[in-house]
This record gives sequence, C-alpha cells and structure tokens, in this order.
Amino acid sequence: MPKLTIDGKEIEVPAGTTIIQAADKLGITIPRYCYHEALPVSGNCRICMVEVEKMPKLQIACYTPVAEGMVVKTTSPKVIDVRKVVLGYLLVNHPLDCPVCDQAGECKLQDYYMEHGQYDSALNDVKVKKEKKAISLGPTVMLDQERCILCTRCVRFTDNISKTHEFGVFDRGDHSQLDLYPGKELNNNYSGNVVDICPVGALTDKDFRFKCRVWYLDKTKSVCPGCSTGCNITVEWDKSRPHRQKKDRVMRLKPRLNPNVNAYWMCDTGRYNYHFIDQNRIVAPQLKNDLISWPQAIDTVVNAVKAVKDPNRIGVIASAQLTNEDLFAVRKLFKDNLKVSNVDFRVPEQPGKSDDFLLKADRNPNTAGASAILAPNDGTTQAIIEKAKKGELDVLYVFGQDLVKLYGKETVAQIRKSTKMFVYQGSNINDTCSYAHLNLPSAVYAEKDGTFTNFQNRVQRISPAFMPLGEAKGDWEILSLLSEKIGPAFPYRKSQDVFKAVTEAVAPFAEMTYEKIADQGLVLRT
Ligand code: SF4
Ligand code: SF4
Ligand code: FES
Repeated sequence: MPKLTIDGKEIEVPAGTTIIQAADKLGITIPRYCYHEALPVSGNCRICMVEVEKMPKLQIACYTPVAEGMVVKTTSPKVIDVRKVVLGYLLVNHPLDCPVCDQAGECKLQDYYMEHGQYDSALNDVKVKKEKKAISLGPTVMLDQERCILCTRCVRFTDNISKTHEFGVFDRGDHSQLDLYPGKELNNNYSGNVVDICPVGALTDKDFRFKCRVWYLDKTKSVCPGCSTGCNITVEWDKSRPHRQKKDRVMRLKPRLNPNVNAYWMCDTGRYNYHFIDQNRIVAPQLKNDLISWPQAIDTVVNAVKAVKDPNRIGVIASAQLTNEDLFAVRKLFKDNLKVSNVDFRVPEQPGKSDDFLLKADRNPNTAGASAILAPNDGTTQAIIEKAKKGELDVLYVFGQDLVKLYGKETVAQIRKSTKMFVYQGSNINDTCSYAHLNLPSAVYAEKDGTFTNFQNRVQRISPAFMPLGEAKGDWEILSLLSEKIGPAFPYRKSQDVFKAVTEAVAPFAEMTYEKIADQGLVLRT
C-alpha cells in the first residue's frame, strides 16, 4: 500500500488508486469535469491538474496512479494558474446562457469559475457556434451543443452503463461536437442519468426544464417506491411558490448514491413516477357519497368491526406498497388483536417489464418486508375474494389495491353488495374507490416516515418531505386511531416506536434501529 502526501496530509491507499481518489479520501476536492467515479477514466478536460514533486509537468489527478513517497500539491500557484487557463479554454466557445440555463445553480462551469477562474477574458474573436441548440434527443432529454464541454461522461454512460451506445463526439478541433449517432434517439430506460452526470447545461431534463430554479428546491432523502430494487433517491420539492407549481409539490426525483443498491443511477420509470403524489388524491374520508370527518370515519369502521362476532368474517388485503411500520400495524390490529386469519398482501402479478440492470418486474418496494411481517398462508387473497363474493365476510378492509384492475368490475360490484362494510384505505383515486362503502385517505411515501425492505432484504429509510395532502394520514396512524376504540390502543407515538416493535416481534429485524439503518440500509437477518 503506497503512502503519499497530498497538501501536507499523509495517506496510505491501495496500489492502483489515482491521485483524485486518494484526495477524495482525505476530503480534498480536486475539480473535475470528465472524471466520474462510476465511469472509465477519460482524462480529457484537464481541470484536475496537480503538481507532483519530481515530475517536471503538471499531472492529471484522475489518471495518475499514486506511488510510494509521492508529494502532491493541489493548490500551488502553478496549479491555480493552470486551472484558470483550462477554464478559459472550456469557456471560450461557451454561450452566455447562464440566465436562461436550467443548470444554473448546479453547473460546474459556474462553480469552478467562481472558485478558480475569475480571469479577464482574452477572447477577441467570434465564438464558434455549434448548430444544435435546444434539440430533443428523445422522450426525456434535450441537447444544447454550445454548452457541451465534450467531457464524454454521457458517451461513457451510454457505452458502459446503459450499454445503449447512442452518443458520440463528431468532427475535430473546436468543431468537435457531441451528438447522437445517425438514426438513433436517446430512448432507453436510464436516459435521465445523463442529465445528472452532465456537469454543465448541455443535457437537460424535459420534465424539469424551466419548472423551478434549483435554489428553490428542498431535498429529502427517500427510496423509490417504483419497484422492489428500492433505488435510493432524493425527493426534490418546492412548496414555497405555489403559483409556479401547477399543484405539484415535487419538482423532480434524483438518484442518491448507494453502492449496495443503485450506485449513482435510477431508471426513468422510477424517475418520472412522482406526479401521483399530488394528483388524483383521496383527500378526505368519504362514506358512500358523503364526505365525513375523521372521527365519524373511525366510528364507522369501529362499529362495523365490533358488530362482527366471528373474526373469520373479516378479510384484510394489505399491500407491499405499505412501509414495514404500516404492515406491522396491520398485523397488530387485525392478526394479533382481532384474531383475523384472512390477512394477505399478495395479489395476482401485474405484468411489468424488468431489465438486467435495476428495474424489477415486481413494482412494489416492500414485498420482502410484507412477507416477513405478515407471513401469510398460500392462497389467502384468493380465499378472501371468494369469501367476500359469497357473502361470507362482513368487513373487507383493502389497502391501496385496485381490486377492479385485479379481479374485474363484476367481482368488486358483487363484493360491495355482499359485505356490510367494504373499506378502501389508499392515497389515490382508482376504480375500486367507487365500489367501496368507505374511502379513507392515506399518505403517499413522500409524506411518510418509515422503512421499505427491498428484494435483497435490505431495510431502507424513507423520510417525509412534507405533510400529507388534505386530510390524509399515515397508514399506521389510521390503524392506531382504530386501535384506540377497538382496543388495546397502540402505544406508538411515532414511526420509530412502531419500528422498535417490529424489531422486537419479527426476528429478521432484530436489533435494527433507524440510526443503524442510516442512509445506506441494513440487511435482514436470515
Ligand atoms: Fe459532457 Fe454533457 Fe457534453 Fe455529454 S453533453 S459530453 S456529459 S458536457
Ligand atoms: Fe425505482 Fe425500480 Fe427504477 Fe430503481 S429500478 S428507480 S426502484 S422503479
Ligand atoms: Fe481529470 Fe478531466 S477530471 S482530466
């Protein structure tokens, strides 16, 4: 393991480590455009130049491997001068677009110019113009060739990560330009990632363009609920300027680094799946055609449940969209306290595409958690549906599952007729809502505190970005209100209390805490 010194700090790193990686470990950030931890090194932008003792010329930190006894300076006068020159070259043909560029506020040209540039322009000539400005590359991404600094991150992403090979650099010298290969469009399920890694405003996201300046965004760490991979994400939202938002609080989702799950990436299916957070929501309890208050809604359910003498006449269809905490509340109220055996979450599979990268056909974020917590018997859901149809259930309680989509209108219409109380607890309006006797509004993942367990059995945290819309409440909180009247009342005040109960009652979760799960998750015990 070679030992070296960077800016006077000593570090020992494995052989083969590059200077930029060693500096990162020390918390010394060397500027970079083309270098990206997850992509092959290209070494084309030259902004990462550093001084290495006994080497006559400056070296690029992203490509130069460390050596025993190396002494590196990242902020010597020579280095600072060269950074200015490199920035000068990168900006020489760059348009003055900052005021209208979507990348402003998170652009590495802006940032490094302010940190390391601040030179007087020596340019007297007319800038070389590139042809393609605000050109659509496919369904999700726009290209502005003038803004591109030819770092080739997007080329390397599509060559090495998505392996879809859409991008190339064409022509020579200052006429070089980034473009799609002839006849290609950027239309793969990971296209949004090129916007994330483009260090400038050359690639922008059609969904986000001109919606919000990035400095207005608040950011909340979360997990994508789009499939059982559970990619780590940041929910980026803005509710301070409602006139700009067309009712959506969430402006965009971005992938968050987790080397064990999604690395730096997420799929487009998950990335653009956020409009449901504020659209088509159930916002108040509704009994048949009447909006009612929460106390009335709770009394309605409690009276219906209390009127049932035999717990076998209650059926519960939960969902793998619920958090571990919600599912534990389902188990506690229905299985443990009311002794209901008709409890399941598994429904007929909906056909969904999977790929050999991140996207899974199971579009639920918490199938593993639901299996561990509810441990249902085979065939329970089908049995619940059959019983409900035949009038063998007095109460059917459904969490977020669109029974109409799964079992057809006739079946659900029959269930409405045959049951005394058909409760639908969910966040968004679907066809099942119009058949349920009572609709209860629940929070979406971005409004919840809790955990999901992904397909690798990794338990991961979600945090609330904002309050539930309208009168919606968290799923376990609604069940907690029911428990107060049905008894015994849940002793939980916050999600963390419910999670503690999960860890005590469900062996694979033993000894986990929110602190231990932290940002990267923890795997269930086997
Ligand atoms: Fe780099 Fe962006 Fe240009 Fe691609 S479009 S080469 S990521 S600057
Ligand atoms: Fe979401 Fe799955 Fe896509 Fe990841 S792969 S972003 S979890 S839908
Ligand atoms: Fe090293 Fe670009 S970051 S050459």
